[in-house]
Amino acid sequence: MKKIICVALLYAVFCTNLHAQQANAKMNAYINNLMSKMTLEEKIGQLNLVVPGGGSVTGSVVSQGVDDNIRKGNVGGLFGITGPDKIRKIQDIAVKNSRLHIPIIFGLDVIHGHRTIFPIPLGLSTCWDMNLIERSARIAASEATADGLSWAFSPMVDIARDPRWGRISEGSGEDQFLGSQIAKAMVKGYQGAGYSSGKNLMACVKHFALYGAAEAGRDYNTVDMSRIKMYEYYLPPYKAAVDAGVGSVMSSFNEIDGVPATGNKWLLTDLLRKQWGFKGLVVSDYTSVNEMTAHGMGDLQAVSALALNAGLDMDMVGEGFLTTLKKSLQQGKVTQKQIDAACRRILEAKYQLGLFEDPYRYINEDRAAKELLSAENRAAAREIAAHSFVLLKNAGQVLPLKKSGTIALVGPLANNKNNMLGTWAVSGDPQLSVPVLDGIKNVTGNAVNIIYAKGANLTDDSSMAKNVNVFGPRAEFDGRSPEEMIKEAVEAAGKADVVVAVVGEASEMSGEAASRSNLDLPESQQNLLKALVKTGKPLVLVLFNGRPLTISWEDANASAILDVWFPGSEAGNAIADVLFGNYNPAGKITATFPRNVGQVPIYYNHKNTGRPLEGEAFQKFRSDYLDVPNSPLYPFGYGLSYTAFSYSDLKLSKQNLKGNETLTASVTLTNSGQYAGQEVVQLYITDPVASVTRAVKDLKGFQKIMLQPGESKEVSFSITPEQLKFYNSNLKYDWEAGEFIVHIGTNSRDVKSGKVNWSK
Ligand code: BGC
Repeated sequence: MKKIICVALLYAVFCTNLHAQQANAKMNAYINNLMSKMTLEEKIGQLNLVVPGGGSVTGSVVSQGVDDNIRKGNVGGLFGITGPDKIRKIQDIAVKNSRLHIPIIFGLDVIHGHRTIFPIPLGLSTCWDMNLIERSARIAASEATADGLSWAFSPMVDIARDPRWGRISEGSGEDQFLGSQIAKAMVKGYQGAGYSSGKNLMACVKHFALYGAAEAGRDYNTVDMSRIKMYEYYLPPYKAAVDAGVGSVMSSFNEIDGVPATGNKWLLTDLLRKQWGFKGLVVSDYTSVNEMTAHGMGDLQAVSALALNAGLDMDMVGEGFLTTLKKSLQQGKVTQKQIDAACRRILEAKYQLGLFEDPYRYINEDRAAKELLSAENRAAAREIAAHSFVLLKNAGQVLPLKKSGTIALVGPLANNKNNMLGTWAVSGDPQLSVPVLDGIKNVTGNAVNIIYAKGANLTDDSSMAKNVNVFGPRAEFDGRSPEEMIKEAVEAAGKADVVVAVVGEASEMSGEAASRSNLDLPESQQNLLKALVKTGKPLVLVLFNGRPLTISWEDANASAILDVWFPGSEAGNAIADVLFGNYNPAGKITATFPRNVGQVPIYYNHKNTGRPLEGEAFQKFRSDYLDVPNSPLYPFGYGLSYTAFSYSDLKLSKQNLKGNETLTASVTLTNSGQYAGQEVVQLYITDPVASVTRAVKDLKGFQKIMLQPGESKEVSFSITPEQLKFYNSNLKYDWEAGEFIVHIGTNSRDVKSGKVNWSK
C-alpha cells in the first residue's frame, strides 16, 4: 500500500514538474518573440514605473507626461490609481496606441486591505493567527483585482526593534520567527496558488533589506549591522516570502555595508538571486535610485547604472533608467544583457499574471460593485480587528463592561472617523469607517446610557498637528479651550458608572516619515486622563497606536487598557464587541513596550552580555540604568484575557537526546476563569553555550488554543535540531551540541522552563 502511495506521489510530482516546464517553455517562446521585436528604447521603457499623482504620492516627485510616455512605450508599470474606469482608460492607451501593445501592470500600496480596511499590520500580527492573516490578504487581493490592480506593494516584513520608527506600524514587530510565518501567510493570501482565478495578485515583499534598523528610529536613516545579526534576525522574513514564491521584491531606501540597497549587488544579486534563488522582479522604492545621489554614489547616470548592475529591474518614479541607460550602454557602463534580463523579468510577471492574454483581466466592474466594502468583507474586517486587540491591563475585572448603566465615553478618538483606518490605507475611505460611539450604540442598543464628551484635542501642539495632517485632517482643534473640554468630560464622568477614554495617536503619527522622539500620549490627552483619574471612577482606556507607546503612568493609573492599534473600517463595532464581552480578547503584543524612550532599542531576544543584571534593582558594574529597570513595561508576547489561564510545569519527553531525535515539550493549559477564551501558548529556546553569543531566548513555536471555562488541554511542541540552528561566525547555519533550555509560557517573560542535553 505504502509503495503504491509513494509511486502515485512521485508520479504527481513528475506531472507537476512537467507541466511547469511546458508552461515555462511556452512563456519563454512568447517573450523571446516579443523581445525580438522590441527596440532598446522600448525595453528600457518596460523598466519604468510611474505615478501620475493624485494617489499615494510619498515623495516630492510625480511623473509627468504619463499618457504620452505610455504611447511611446516608455512605461512598464503604473501605480497610485484605482478604479475600473480610470485603469481601463490607461490600459487602452498602452494596448491600443503603443507600437507593440504591451499591457501595463498596475500596482498599489494595498497594505492592510484595499477598500475594506483591516487592522494595521502591527495590530494584525498580534492575533498570531495565520489563517486570519492570510484571509485578510485574500480579501484585499480579491477587492484590488476587481478594482484594476494586479500588484500589491506588500507584505512589509521589516523587523523593527525601535518604536520611534513610525514604520514599525507597517510590519509584524520585532521577532523573525513570527515575522516569517506572517510573511508566508500574506504571500499566500495575495498570490493564492497562482493567478488563474483572476482574484489574486502579485505580492511584493519589502523593504529589502534591513530598513527597520534605521539609526535612532529616524526614517530613511543609516543602517549598519553585522552579518550575523542580519542573517539571524533581520533577513529571515524576506527569505520566508521568497520561499513562499513571492513574485516581486522592493529594494529599500537605506544603505547596507555602505552601499544603498538599491545599488547593492551583494544584496540584490549574490544573496537574493544566487543564494536564495529568487526568480521574480526587483523594483526600487519611490525614487530610491535617484536618492543614491544624495547618499553620495554619483550623478543620476552613475546611480542608475549602479542599480542595474546590482540587479534592480524596475525604477519607481525617478526615471533614472528611462533617461540614462541608453547612454550608459553606449559608454559600456551597462550591458545589453543586463537590460534584456530586467526587461524579461517584467514581461514574465505580466505574462504570469495573464495580462498578455487579457490586459483587462483585473478590471471587473461587476465584481467591484458587489465586493468592494461588501457586508461580507466588513464582517471579516470586524472579526479580524477584534482578534488584533491586546488587553494590556484589567484590574478588578472592570472589563468586559455590562450592557447596562451609564458610560462616560470620552476622548478625541471616541467619536472620530478620520483616524480609524490607520496609516497606509490609501484606498480606504475614512468616512465609511465606524467610529467608537456608533459601534457602542450598535452593540448595546438602548441598553446603555452613553454620555459623550470629547475631553481633549488629539494634540494641542499646532506644529505636530500640521505634520500629521498632510493627507487630510487627522488632528483637529476644537473651538473650545482645553479647560472647557476637560470640564465637560469630568462632568460626564461624574454621572457615569464607568469612564471609557478613547485616546492615543492620530493615524499619521505613525507610518512613513512619522518617527517620534517622544512616545508618550500627547500632553493634551495626558491632562484629560489625569483629571479623569481624580474622579475616582473606574477608567478604561481604549488605546489607538501605531507603535508601542510609553504608557507607564497610564498603566499605573487606569483600571484597564485595551490596545486596539488602528482597527480599520469596522473599528467601532469591533471595539464594542470586545468592550462588552461578545469577543474575549486574545492578542499578544509583537513589539516590546518600553518604560521610557531611553530604553530603546528594547526587545526580548537580546544578548546576555558579560555583566547581566539579575533581578530588577540597580547594581553597580552591571549592564543596567541608574534611573529605570532593564525590564520593559510589557514584554513581547504579552496580552491578557477576560478569563485566566494557568500553566502546569513543563514536561520534557527526554532529558538526553542525540542527533536527529525529536523532543516533545508540553504543558497542561487550564482555563481557570469565567469566560471561554483563546490563549497563544509560546515556545522559546535558550542555547546557553555556543561558539557565538546567543540571545537569552528565541521564539520557536506557538499555538493558539481555545478553551471553555474549567477546560484543560495538553499543549505539545515537537522540537528537532532544526530549531536549534543558528548562524555561526562563518555564517554557517547549524546547531552545536550541548545544553538547551526549553521554555513554554504565556509571554516571553512568564514561562515554565526545563533543560535538556543534546549531543550530535
Ligand atoms: C514607500 C513604499 C511604498 C512606495 C509606493 C514609498 O515611499 O517606502 O513602502 O510601497 O512608496 O507608494
